[in-house]
Amino acid sequence: MDKIRIIGGKRLSGTIPVSGAKNAALTLIPCALLTDEPLTLRNLPRLADIDGFQHLMTQFGVSVNIAGGRPEDFGRVVTYEATRLTSTVAPYDLVRKMRASVLVLGPMLARAGEATVSMPGGCAIGNRPIDLHLKALEAFGAEIELAQGYVKARAPDGGLPGGDYDFPVVSVGATENALMAAVLANGTSRLNNAAREPEIVDLCNLLVAMGAQIEGIGTSDLTIHGVKRLHGATYRVMPDRIEAGSYACAAAITGGQVRLDGAKADDMLSTIHALRNIGIEVETDATGIDVAANGPLKAVNLSTAPFPGLATDMQAQLMALLCRAEGTSVLTETIFENRYMHVPELARMGADIDVQSRTAIVKGVPSMTGAQVMATDLRASMSLVIAGLAAEGETQVKRLYHLDRGYERLEEKLALLGAEVERIGDE
Ligand code: EPZ
Repeated sequence: MDKIRIIGGKRLSGTIPVSGAKNAALTLIPCALLTDEPLTLRNLPRLADIDGFQHLMTQFGVSVNIAGGRPEDFGRVVTYEATRLTSTVAPYDLVRKMRASVLVLGPMLARAGEATVSMPGGCAIGNRPIDLHLKALEAFGAEIELAQGYVKARAPDGGLPGGDYDFPVVSVGATENALMAAVLANGTSRLNNAAREPEIVDLCNLLVAMGAQIEGIGTSDLTIHGVKRLHGATYRVMPDRIEAGSYACAAAITGGQVRLDGAKADDMLSTIHALRNIGIEVETDATGIDVAANGPLKAVNLSTAPFPGLATDMQAQLMALLCRAEGTSVLTETIFENRYMHVPELARMGADIDVQSRTAIVKGVPSMTGAQVMATDLRASMSLVIAGLAAEGETQVKRLYHLDRGYERLEEKLALLGAEVERIGDE
């Protein structure tokens, strides 16, 4: 297993491109199932999770054509064509490796009238149930059966009638599955308390480009008028707001000055607000964001929340930054029940953090020391990289496959900013 070796203390400066959003791409790709025409996605990030999803799509008979492009390019253009589906089963051995695979449930049900998808199971940050996905699909008229660890979903003959569903909890994935099921229903569907994350807006924009009729895009109340069929489209994936926020934290902890080219400020206002409260200068324009740390870092209190609140996917990275702030910060993680796996590893680098249930009390320390640390989940591993960039000496982050799931060519981007970083294979 690869690991990344960082020599801390280098001030980051320069410009890096922000890649296409992993969490948008993972819901845009399954839209190819909704039509027998080609769907071309541009600005797709080169990530392990995207490769995994593409492999899953081939299991259904979907053709995946990756356009040329130079090896040094960031992002790819990929065309998916689901002319004819040869299977409606998403097997356990694929779904367990990438839980976002559950996002084939809605579109497969809409296109084929049936879908058999392995239950994804939990992961490091929580047990990650999918009950809301299933309740929304049932509200649209699907019959759902759970057997041998699989979800077996079936639409009535003639397709889903559509219906109304009130989400008791905001769920990004359940909103996405429901949207992809409703667009081909025989009637109108309504989703209340739907997720409003920018990735949901990106999904709605793609579906509309394919011929879907959706009202209330960007709000928590969505109305979908089902149509008979959808056509192909060419669509550019939105920039990754979490990747951009992560590199902003990396620049800030090193006292650096970095431009995040392609970042969309409107998608990350809560992160920008938090950074400014910490004392970081953030300037935004139509094509990107400039981040500069010119003074001491200030302690702040942060609480994660569904969009437009502070993204839970930014909690670990901001915590790493706050380890170096003057004063004590209080972070509250309201979305997932076990999203502090980075804390013991940060503590090995000298951080002073006390976790009490969903709250983490972070006492700023004047310095941290490099150490060998273990990545446990995607965003936790990025927080260790961020801490390592400003720690004294060498940090090695093991189990790099966690990082490769969500950060396109991380060490190349960090090296572009002047970091002393290299990827090393395991002895
Ligand atoms: C998406 O996960 C993202 N993943 C996550 O990013 C992100 O942290 C999360 O949304 C919240 O923003 C992708 O988009 C691929 P949820 P998702 O359904 O859809 C509970 C990353 O690091 N819930 O909004 O699984 C759930 O347990 C990843 O890139 C139910 O109870 O998140 C959680 O407490 C990590 N029942 C809360 O809702 C359900 O049926 C929010 O989960 C579904 C969810």
